[in-house]
Amino acid sequence: MQHQSATRVVTQPQNDAAKSATAESAVEIHDLHKSFGGVDVLKGISLTARQGDVVAIIGGSGSGKSTLLRCVNLLETPTSGQIAIQGEPYRMRAGKNGALVPADRRQIQRIRAHLGMVFQSFNLWPHRTVLENVMEVPVHVLKTPREEARARASTLLDRVGLGDKLDAYPSFLSGGQQQRAAIARVLAVDPLAMLFDEPTSALDPELVGEVLSVIRDLAAEHRTMLLVTHEMAFARDVATHVVFLRDGIIEEQGSPTQIFESPRSEHLKQFIKSVA
Ligand SMILES: Nc1ncnc2c1ncn2[C@@H]1O[C@H](COP(=O)(O)OP(=O)(O)O)[C@@H](O)[C@H]1O
Ligand SMILES: [Mg+2]
Repeated sequence: MQHQSATRVVTQPQNDAAKSATAESAVEIHDLHKSFGGVDVLKGISLTARQGDVVAIIGGSGSGKSTLLRCVNLLETPTSGQIAIQGEPYRMRAGKNGALVPADRRQIQRIRAHLGMVFQSFNLWPHRTVLENVMEVPVHVLKTPREEARARASTLLDRVGLGDKLDAYPSFLSGGQQQRAAIARVLAVDPLAMLFDEPTSALDPELVGEVLSVIRDLAAEHRTMLLVTHEMAFARDVATHVVFLRDGIIEEQGSPTQIFESPRSEHLKQFIKSVA
């Protein structure tokens, strides 16, 4: 064992100990429905990401990609269906109108604290330095001792190439730097899964590469990710599995090779052409 860990080149997430050697489910979604004001936006999504899977979610605007990710960390409450994180289903109960409501806020807070989301618009806290942004959840939610959280945050920021920006405020950083800080912030919570919602869509083209390169490294470490992206070449490269959403359903899914080289559905063929 000693020898093995000494020669292992890849840094594994800290929660590795909790994982079994065989690929177990990290995110399991079963028959997920979500409607807004009677309009069905997700119409029965079932999807499993095992430990280390990089699931790319592609599809046109309005197909439900963001809603799907937001349901995974319960930023949106599903109308019906089940979601389990590392085998632990969210405890939900039927509310007054029949729609689900969370049954156990503490469970949700606990799980959500370890589900990092990276948004298109970075969403860093503007009045905190980059270092403070990365320390925030570990210190205040996970109760990590401050000095430990600071040391870890500093290491993670160094890792994403921001070792010289610890004390900078977000508005003084480029979009690419802000997004890399947002990724460090997710890494700091020792994520069970990382959720990326079009992380490069708001960036100037010349800054896209630096963010994709950080995500690529994380994928190579077998971090579990659900990644909504319009970067098809990137998805093809890093994903273990690709899901094509259309109008609230999974119209097609498969390996990157299947999806990009032999798409079956006409809509998928058209979609791939349109974003190429
Ligand atoms: N909070 C909301 N209230 C009402 N409708 C919403 C809400 N969020 C999303 N929608 C609708 O759900 C559909 C899917 O949206 P979204 O998940 O953002 O799609 P995508 O990310 O694929 O572009 C859209 O028609 C959108 O207008
Ligand atoms: Mg979206």
